[in-house]
Amino acid sequence: MNDVVEPILKISNLCKIYSGDFNALKNVSLEIGKGEIVALLGPNGAGKTTLISTICGIVRPTSGKITVAGFDIVNDYRKTRSLIGLVPQELTTDSFETVFNTVSFSRGLFGRPPSPAHIERVLTSLSLWEKRDSKIITLSGGMKRRVLIAKALSHEPSVLFLDEPTAGVDVSLRKDMWQIVRELRESGVTIILTTHYIEEAEEIADRVGVINHGEIVLIEDKQTLMRKLGQKQLMMDLIEPLREIPASLNDFALDLTMSGLRLTYTFDTHEQRADITALLDGLKSAGIAFRDLQTSQSSLEEIFVNLVEGSGRRPFEREVEP
Ligand SMILES: Nc1ncnc2c1ncn2[C@@H]1O[C@H](COP(=O)(O)OP(=O)(O)O)[C@@H](O)[C@H]1O
Ligand SMILES: [Mg+2]
Repeated sequence: MNDVVEPILKISNLCKIYSGDFNALKNVSLEIGKGEIVALLGPNGAGKTTLISTICGIVRPTSGKITVAGFDIVNDYRKTRSLIGLVPQELTTDSFETVFNTVSFSRGLFGRPPSPAHIERVLTSLSLWEKRDSKIITLSGGMKRRVLIAKALSHEPSVLFLDEPTAGVDVSLRKDMWQIVRELRESGVTIILTTHYIEEAEEIADRVGVINHGEIVLIEDKQTLMRKLGQKQLMMDLIEPLREIPASLNDFALDLTMSGLRLTYTFDTHEQRADITALLDGLKSAGIAFRDLQTSQSSLEEIFVNLVEGSGRRPFEREVEP
């Protein structure tokens, strides 16, 4: 598959069949390099949590082999589990215990000797130090999420799994989360996260895997993937209807809809960002004024439609409004 220089995680031909013969993972093979940030993108039910849970030893693989730093997750379970930190999808932190004790206790569960200095470092890096004596139940949702990350880092894992870390969180917390992930990578941790937000993968991942119906549909360097799949649209609602797009704007992929009142620019997220300035300058020179401007990005579902159908249809091409 992909050539990873120094893989810390190796998955070969992994299958998971749940009772009632539901095929949740179909022949998944994947290698992840030390220090990478990999995002696994996929819609609900794709098999993301099953994949992570299998690597973490919570779900039994039906067949296939997984190693973490060369250790087999079945035969060397204790070893691999100690190398892994897991931030689960569900929030399960309605505890009356304090932040410090909860995180410290987590470390003990992995058989690590107490290290108040490490716990302090982790809590500080997650902006939780001030809250160390607060009972978890009194914290906001965002703080509880941070506690989950702190717990997952309590035993100094080499690989951290984050299962939909930002599902349902507000924008500012999402950005904090991305910052935390970047800092963790700086500290040498390999990070694998699942998400159904393509912007999230675009923002923080080095490599992106797309998973659908239990299969890795593709795994690719982010830049390459975004060039292939990530298109964005800039929609401008014009003040005056435009009869046709002026020739001076021929260099831009523009569409005119809504009886000449909407101009839509379609561009690749990575290649042509700078062109927006040129486009806006061009509009100004052509005397085209707009009252409103918005962007939309191809959603993962739309990308899937494209991938699965292979129709060559643009991700968010739709019927032109009358
Ligand atoms: N314990 C289980 N028993 C049977 N089916 C399951 C179980 N857990 C998950 N599934 C099914 O496996 C599929 C993948 O689920 P999951 O891994 O949770 O997907 P994702 O995390 O991508 O949303 C879903 O169709 C789900 O209903
Ligand atoms: Mg899930």
